[in-house]
Amino acid sequence: NSFADSSIVDGSVTNFEVSPDHFSSSEQIKTTVSVTVVGASGDLAKKKIFPALFALYYENFLPEHFTIFGYARSKMSDEELRNMISKTLTCRIDKRENCGDKMEKFLQRCFYQSGQYYSEENFKELDKKLKEREAGKVPNRLFYLSIPPNIFVDVVRCATYGASSPTGWTRVIVEKPFGRDSESSRELTASLKQYLTEDQIFRIDHYLGKELVENLSVLRFSNLVFEPLWSRQYIRNVQLIFSEDFGTEGRGGYFDSYGIIRDIMQNHLLQILALFAMETPVSLDAEDIRNEKVKVLKSMRPLEIEDVVVGQYKGHSKGGKSYPSYTDDPKVPNNSLTPTFAAAALFIDNARWDGVPFLMKAGKALHSNGAEIRVQFRHVPGNLYRRNFGTYLDKNTNELVIRVQPNEAIYLKINNKVPGLGMRLDRSNLNLLYSAKYSREIPDAYERLLLDAIEGERRLFIRSDELDAAWALFTPVLKELEEKHVFPELYPFGSRGPVGAHYLAAKYNVRWG
Ligand code: NDP
Ligand code: BG6
Repeated sequence: NSFADSSIVDGSVTNFEVSPDHFSSSEQIKTTVSVTVVGASGDLAKKKIFPALFALYYENFLPEHFTIFGYARSKMSDEELRNMISKTLTCRIDKRENCGDKMEKFLQRCFYQSGQYYSEENFKELDKKLKEREAGKVPNRLFYLSIPPNIFVDVVRCATYGASSPTGWTRVIVEKPFGRDSESSRELTASLKQYLTEDQIFRIDHYLGKELVENLSVLRFSNLVFEPLWSRQYIRNVQLIFSEDFGTEGRGGYFDSYGIIRDIMQNHLLQILALFAMETPVSLDAEDIRNEKVKVLKSMRPLEIEDVVVGQYKGHSKGGKSYPSYTDDPKVPNNSLTPTFAAAALFIDNARWDGVPFLMKAGKALHSNGAEIRVQFRHVPGNLYRRNFGTYLDKNTNELVIRVQPNEAIYLKINNKVPGLGMRLDRSNLNLLYSAKYSREIPDAYERLLLDAIEGERRLFIRSDELDAAWALFTPVLKELEEKHVFPELYPFGSRGPVGAHYLAAKYNVRWG
């Protein structure tokens, strides 16, 4: 890891040497890290956070002295928490050698405290238990807010109440949603900052922890063949596509007050766009990277309603199987206009990207599952092959695809000659398929992000000015859609989504890849 060094983090000196055993080698410091998962009984904690913590432990990335606490209102003993964690272990480690033994050891470090989210008293009980485990060592504390956003501030108030330590650090990972528009997001930030400094707030966007999103900057800035082409001069359009082949399944209550634009576009897809389009940062330092992301976000035009298409999935039956409508979810009102699909065209008004459409498409209950970036290049200038292969070449310009998931890959579509005596052109892929090239499994995004938060690495977390700039792009259109009660185009569950998305792309002379 190139970020390995000795750094001052939150006032305390921490030794970073990111190798699996680095924490045990820095024994002389005698620090301890405790991770408290607030909302430990919830879906995200079970599905992602505990499995990621276990994977880090299995790979020896957690410090020698670490403790994990679950906190929630549900009544549970330590044993019941351990039971829950071991039963819901869905991590990539679960079929590995010695998984059972390591799991036993890991579980012995896990504890539970039941309490209310607004109760200082209950958090004091947690504090007492934490102190028992921290005795004699420099205490570092990480709180992961895996709870609904309306209780973020209460929890931060209680968790930080009287708990500050002069030597160790306290950090808080905040899950999305960070507000639902510019105003509520600023309010949330201001409220959190009554108790925390910006440096202590780790706003998570798990897409930033995905391997191929991490790789974007390596691809761009360490390969001579890409960076010179990375501009309006050579790129016709960029597409950021997210699709899921399942509906809101159990999250309808949350989803209905947010919708797909807030759930996916304003954060996951926009973060990818920022990394894709930013200028070269001065260094790999977190602040230098985040400065460039903010700059590019601020160069973007706020999205206009004419450049958005919204859709909502409807139920149907096929082959004896029936698929539900979005509004069949008991937590969604029958007359909900919340989009489960959206397509949008965004523009960056700077010298590099002037006039290049950045098209986003995100939807639930579609025909496929995946996330990818498609970069469509311009036509080759000149007439050499176009004289004979005009239409063919018009259709088949170069395209670079970065498939974030599943089956991570980077491939470049090129034109080549079909072997033989004739002259026919063919389209082929120069393909880097991760599973073929690397035998090592790709870690889950939450593993990377939890490790970074423990190490104080902020590069993959969202700074407050970045968040402001992101909301500024989407807030006006979200308000307009809601005020005008724009009716979403209905599309059948499992289809390719509303046709309106194709008209939007055609308006900019683009075909979705
Ligand atoms: P849950 O709805 O499962 O809530 C987590 C825990 O919070 C629950 O187990 C419950 O614990 C407590 N809780 C739930 N509702 C309330 C309420 N109204 N008032 C007080 N406490 C409540 O959420 P998730 O685990 O799905 O998500 C946690 C956070 O992560 C949310 O902010 C979500 O938006 C975000 N997120 C979730 C993803 C996912 O895939 N699930 C993906 C990305 C982000 P108890 O009753 O025991 O106190
Ligand atoms: C979450 C959204 O942030 O990302 C969910 O709230 C979505 O609606 C999820 O399903 C997708 O994440 P991933 O990692 O499964 O692609």
